[in-house]
Amino acid sequence: TAAPDIAAPDTAAPSAVARAAGLTRQDFPAGFLFGVATSSYQIEGAASEDGRSPSIWDVFCAKPGRISDGSSGAVACDHYHRWEQDLDLIAALGVDAYRFSVAWPRVVPAGRGPVNAAGLDFYERLTDGLLARGVQPHVTLYHWDLPAVLQDQGGWTNRDTAYAFAEYSAAVAQRLGNRVASYATLNEPWCSSVLSYELGEHAPGTRDRAAALSAAHHLMLGHGLAMPEIRRHAPQSQAGIVLNLGPQESASDRPEDIRAARHADGRFNRWFLDPILRGEYPADTWEEIGGDAPPVQTGDLNLISAHNDFLGVNYYTRGVIGAQGGVLPEGASVTDMGWEIHPQGLTDLLLRLKADYPGLPPIYITENGAAFSDERSGDRVHDPRRTEFLSTHLNALLDASQAGVDVRGYFAWSLMDNFEWAFGYEKRFGLIYVDYDTQERLMKDSALWYQAFLK
Ligand code: NOJ
Repeated sequence: TAAPDIAAPDTAAPSAVARAAGLTRQDFPAGFLFGVATSSYQIEGAASEDGRSPSIWDVFCAKPGRISDGSSGAVACDHYHRWEQDLDLIAALGVDAYRFSVAWPRVVPAGRGPVNAAGLDFYERLTDGLLARGVQPHVTLYHWDLPAVLQDQGGWTNRDTAYAFAEYSAAVAQRLGNRVASYATLNEPWCSSVLSYELGEHAPGTRDRAAALSAAHHLMLGHGLAMPEIRRHAPQSQAGIVLNLGPQESASDRPEDIRAARHADGRFNRWFLDPILRGEYPADTWEEIGGDAPPVQTGDLNLISAHNDFLGVNYYTRGVIGAQGGVLPEGASVTDMGWEIHPQGLTDLLLRLKADYPGLPPIYITENGAAFSDERSGDRVHDPRRTEFLSTHLNALLDASQAGVDVRGYFAWSLMDNFEWAFGYEKRFGLIYVDYDTQERLMKDSALWYQAFLK
């Protein structure tokens, strides 16, 4: 693969925005799936009910200074109790599909061993509740809430965790079976390794590159071990994985910037794409990490690269990389996370995946969205920037689809405002506004727009 080209200026051109504004679902291929997404720890609350054990996020949130508003997911959107009302909202949006995650500490509270039937009951109610409303359930098995007991034994740096994950996955697939349209093993293993074990920003908060690379390997091994379990118990469901990806472009044509961008691409994208889609780690990056390389055993890469029915792609932004690190291009517009808004990056990414990975499975955009500081005025929440974000990204997706990339669906992140990890409740990604004092839900203008788009 060649180093990515120098970043072109951002394309918030009025014509693209205008084109996006006129978009409807009829512009997409027949059968294209539209949905919304959430994850267990970010919305459920009910942290110690029905046998759930603490997850690494409960532990992490209790450490002073780790979450910017000092909060936790202990209550979150109280979705565990309000799920019926939330499913009604999902149905009211008119989406085809809902992506949610299962909390491992509810299902196997000891991390390994006995299955807690009460934990599975909740996800069965959700699954059946969705089906009753004509909405396809899409399940993620690991969206970062590792049972805390497993962290006491090293978490993902311990190879045993991969086997524990496969056992837990089998229990979920056995109970929910073919009722679930798709199972994704992992959500964003870059986050649950690098952000969690190297940069220390996510649970467990370690700062150690070798630990992160070991965690990444064991996460992918867990994926490889879980796939056959899913296929055995839910042969009619689709099975795959969700990665967070984005172009990592060089800030200039200086060789040191190009090198840095290539390295960033290796760590962020290819470190996961290559083992999963090609059965090998990227040689250049492997060399760069030297003695921090992960403990790969014979046969691991075969397991990791077993066939996926789909690849889930979470796209939020690109990186523009110089020798000193990431930079924000001049004049870039950003979301409340400080992330550059760059819809073109989604088209670029998808075209690159198609070009570089011959065995690429069908793609679902499993997350795309933006945080903005939305405020309620009466019974409305005006969030035109989110609507523009979503529609311009749908536009970019359509461009990739028309250029021949096999994209089958799009899930907006997120159904509703929720616990945004290290940022607590300060960042609002929802199409639906949540008043955390009253747990009232209110469709933002972007939700009304999505609803109209889907009609
Ligand atoms: C990706 C993660 O999967 C999700 O949990 C998070 O809330 C969003 N990105 C926004 O940061």
